[in-house]
Amino acid sequence: MAEVIIVEDARAGGALVGRALADQLREQPDLVLGLATGSTPSSTYAALAEIVRAESIPVDRLTGFALDEYVGLPAGHPESYREVLIREVVAPLGLDPSQIHVPEMLPDDPQRSGEVYEAAIDAAGGVDVQLLGIGRSGHIGFNEPGSSLASRTRIKTLTEHTRVDNSRFFDSLDDVPIQCMTQGVGTILRAKRLVMLAFGAAKAEGIAAAIEGPLTAAVPASAIQLHEYVTVVVDEAAASRLEHTDSYRSAWAHKPAWQSLLPIGAPRRSDG
Ligand code: GLP
Repeated sequence: MAEVIIVEDARAGGALVGRALADQLREQPDLVLGLATGSTPSSTYAALAEIVRAESIPVDRLTGFALDEYVGLPAGHPESYREVLIREVVAPLGLDPSQIHVPEMLPDDPQRSGEVYEAAIDAAGGVDVQLLGIGRSGHIGFNEPGSSLASRTRIKTLTEHTRVDNSRFFDSLDDVPIQCMTQGVGTILRAKRLVMLAFGAAKAEGIAAAIEGPLTAAVPASAIQLHEYVTVVVDEAAASRLEHTDSYRSAWAHKPAWQSLLPIGAPRRSDG
């Protein structure tokens, strides 16, 4: 069973996960972090940066791998995920931009672009902790419904649904790219730990389907059920369609800290 932690709001969720990541980073300075984008992980990145600064945790050996990226945006476009990660992770944590990897389409060999990214992840020793948001359609990264649960990093076409959702970051729907490059579901499952975050009522259905629904390519996020170490951090609104909230709450309330699937060393209830 996934570890499901119900927190008050995004700030509390960010504080909990940010603290867990900071403690893990202190123990493992060469941590490889899988980076999600979207609005959901922002409170986690902010909390992590605050703790790293306050406690002078070294970050020079940290490596980050983005989950996904748009294809076709001009270099430096403020809504490219590389730029988002520079603003939300690289700058606040004081990293060198070269510490963060983002999937990139090779113009001369688009088909090989995915393999190159996978090889870079392997060369870094694999992702230790993969942060995940969830799209309203139940997607993870940009793996839209129907994505193979064994898929690897590749170029995909975005659904209209996701383009409409993400148009809030652009001037108009026409400005939202049509293609993207994303880690596959199979790539994500190879990370040593998964931490999925979701806040707000719009995520309730996707979260219920991901955690309690059948394992199906129709809901790529349901693939987290295949992973041995997965923690899902949700607020009350995102948890509102879950059936087994009582079990999740009591499991979390009574679990000794060492048993938590959040990265090692996470102090718990005080932050949540
Ligand atoms: C995009 C990203 C996903 C993210 C999703 C939800 O489609 N590719 O990685 O999980 O949006 O975004 P938000 O967190 O803004 O709701």
